[in-house]
Amino acid sequence: MTHPRFSDIGACVFDAYGTLFDVHSAAAKCRADLGDKADAVSRTWRDKQLQYTWLRSLMGHYVDFWRVTGDALDYALETQGVDDATLRERLMACYLELAAYPEVKDVLARLKDAGVKCAILSNGAPEMLAAAVRNAGIDDLLDAVLSVDELGVYKPHPTVYRLAVDRLGIAAGRIAFQSSNAWDANGAAAFGFRVAWVNRFGQRAERLPGPAAAELTTLSELPPLLGL
Ligand code: 2OP
Repeated sequence: MTHPRFSDIGACVFDAYGTLFDVHSAAAKCRADLGDKADAVSRTWRDKQLQYTWLRSLMGHYVDFWRVTGDALDYALETQGVDDATLRERLMACYLELAAYPEVKDVLARLKDAGVKCAILSNGAPEMLAAAVRNAGIDDLLDAVLSVDELGVYKPHPTVYRLAVDRLGIAAGRIAFQSSNAWDANGAAAFGFRVAWVNRFGQRAERLPGPAAAELTTLSELPPLLGL
């Protein structure tokens, strides 16, 4: 798809889970134990994890993303009739070492070389993000790793997107925000970021305010979008 270039971008801010890191790689590593339930467990795990972030934000009952991830996994395993504490712990451990999508490191290096600041803005708890970033070997390519944890509310609350503006000291209109989660892309665009929706999974557009300014298939299309 062709889009008008994003000009005068001061920073690229990335969603983490689903955008930089493959959330389904955890269940994939345990496929031998989960058998033909692996895909269903992984899908429900992710769906419930996101639902709990939205619901807890509405309820005003924040707990960090590690707890939410564990609760969602328990729901998914129970749904599939899997009762195995050791497997549960292995799946959680794998969530700390999710695979990065293949293009991530090169794209971040390209942006860094061009002098564009790069940051993560994620629901993830700080320790989870630190582990994933370390595992992917992208620590040196990031200027900041920002977590909702200090705010006690999840995306797409506007205060989350505001955190990136405040921390990077760059106006919203000069921040390119990338997410594979359509609802997150809408939230960020409604806030005022220039948004590239990385539609990795060929999903339909959400019927929500703030459509993304660009739609990409992978992050490899980001440097050309920025004119690099
Ligand atoms: C993230 O904040 C929404 O999972 C997504 O990383």
